[in-house]
Amino acid sequence: TNRIPLMAGNWKMNLDHLEANHLVQGLALALGDAGHDYAKCEVVVIPPFTDIRTVQTIVDADELGIKYGAQDVSVHDNGAYTGEISTAMLTKLGVSYVVMGHSERREYHGESDALVGAKARKVLDAGMTPILCCGEALEVRKAGTHVEFVLAQVRAALEGWSGQDVAKIVIAYEPIWAIGTGETATAEDAQEVCGAIREALRADYGDATAEAVRVLYGGSAKPDNIKELMAQPDVDGALIGGASLKAESFAAMAGFYA
Ligand code: G3H
Repeated sequence: TNRIPLMAGNWKMNLDHLEANHLVQGLALALGDAGHDYAKCEVVVIPPFTDIRTVQTIVDADELGIKYGAQDVSVHDNGAYTGEISTAMLTKLGVSYVVMGHSERREYHGESDALVGAKARKVLDAGMTPILCCGEALEVRKAGTHVEFVLAQVRAALEGWSGQDVAKIVIAYEPIWAIGTGETATAEDAQEVCGAIREALRADYGDATAEAVRVLYGGSAKPDNIKELMAQPDVDGALIGGASLKAESFAAMAGFYA
């Protein structure tokens, strides 16, 4: 395949702008020391909104190959939406990626598939890349209906989309029971669902779209297990929480190919 692997670090609600400065500098150093090849693995940090300007400044000043994203965005253009952040605000800060539909936002902020889809649409229209998250809870996994559950989430969010547009997005499969628990899905579990997502895209939109979309795994991914996950044919990268908060571990994961 010619999909470029993607390691995305979702900082969640961690690190103020001074700590962000420290981490990005440290990450740049660690990647530099390792002779990181950005053509072999794209590296993206996804900080809280309040850190984005700081990250932009470092990336621009040092001409780093690191890209950055946002953890959420509004579906509105501007106006009376207290607390919200628009796509235009993000593009002005050089943001490349925006996450939507993370299980934490679905659970704590009631985000529906329809809202998640609308956010992805908005982000794509603004010229950024959506990272559309999906994933099942433990009860669903135990019932054995995880594949159909995840495919239904993805299809509901992308309802009405053209294959050309779908080809531009990134999908992140994150089984909720593996997030922050230290309990990683096995590489086979990750492949089962990531592969099923790609086959569903193939069925719905054809080969070109299915082969273009990068499908990430997320959930306790760490330096120890990243090689095995990345060896799976349909796992194109990872959405990394905890292990992305340390320069050494995140850089080690981005260097999985070495
Ligand atoms: O977005 C990242 C995921 O929720 C994974 O988090 O690596 O801390 O388990 P984690």
